[in-house]
Amino acid sequence: MKSPILTLGIETSCDETAAAVYHSEHGLLSSSLYSQIELHKNFGGVVPELASRSQLEKINGVVLEALERAHVSLDDVTTIAVTNRPGLPGSLLVGICFAKALAWAKNKKIIGINHLEGHAFSTGIEHNIQFPYLCLTASGGHTSLYLIQDFGQYTVLGQTQDDAAGEAFDKIAKLMHLPYPGGPVIEKMAREVNFQDFYHYPRSKHKTLDFSFSGLKTAVLYDLVQRNAYDLKNKRFLKTDDIQFQKEVASSLLVCIADIFEQKLELALNAYPYVKAITFVGGVACNNYITDRLRTFSTKHNVPFFHPSRIHCTDNAAMIAFVGNYKVQKELFVDFTLDIGT
Ligand code: KG4
Ligand code: ZN
Repeated sequence: MKSPILTLGIETSCDETAAAVYHSEHGLLSSSLYSQIELHKNFGGVVPELASRSQLEKINGVVLEALERAHVSLDDVTTIAVTNRPGLPGSLLVGICFAKALAWAKNKKIIGINHLEGHAFSTGIEHNIQFPYLCLTASGGHTSLYLIQDFGQYTVLGQTQDDAAGEAFDKIAKLMHLPYPGGPVIEKMAREVNFQDFYHYPRSKHKTLDFSFSGLKTAVLYDLVQRNAYDLKNKRFLKTDDIQFQKEVASSLLVCIADIFEQKLELALNAYPYVKAITFVGGVACNNYITDRLRTFSTKHNVPFFHPSRIHCTDNAAMIAFVGNYKVQKELFVDFTLDIGT
């Protein structure tokens, strides 16, 4: 009988310091996280230098907390799985150096994990999903559509050619002087006007599975200018007191992005009608309006729909430990030359 595998996952690719413990038979034992949202709030986005310094301060405590919550010690851990790409170089380096130091000191094996593979398989932490399935990943840094054939086996069907969907929420929120991250605020405001489409921002006309969100940001900006809501010369939003207007923009943007997602999934389903499920992952999958729309869409097409719980949508180490667990079975270990990748 095979002995169980205990994987410690470490995630430091951007502005979250996270660690988790995954047991090959009992599943997820713990997941700890420190979010830097407060640190970057005033800058309207992540400041890389601040992010890596904070990673360094927090990593020791977060890893200890994950081990304690799992009621295990480092000696019990078989393998350390650490995100090594893509992400902010300084932040990634903190996690990799920490993982390598632990592995060296305690004679553990290490595995480098692609952050996007973490997101793509994150639904598997809580759900047993049949392969093959379509996975839409939408976060602050990435927007991609995958055909997932098996654990660790996937094909990129389409991806954003410029900005990510979460970035569109963040940048348009910033235009209106709304706080960072923009997604949750935009969803809250849109709900207050019942998710109506007031301004009909342009949808993608291209019949490919790639995405583009920078054009949408520009379209919203010029629409604001036309409505005398934005002073382009001085880069100033002029309707800071008009909350109703802000809600209308937020709602129109949210409906537009949900429409774009639905349109791309429709194209993908036509091309791959044999898929057994559709999943929606990444920070933007915290959005209840979009998940409801995609669930309705999937039900209409008789395809089961899954998304992770909120804590596993945004960056976390549970997804890294989960992917690490199946990579251990395939013995995809790396040595101490493990470095950050793109
Ligand atoms: O996955 P994540 O934590 O980090 C990256 O890997 O980027 O995603 C963060 C992104 C941000 O752009 C944020 O605005 C977006 O997820 N987000 C949302 C919501 N909650 C977070 N977008 C739309 N609606 C939400 N409720
Ligand atoms: Zn992410």
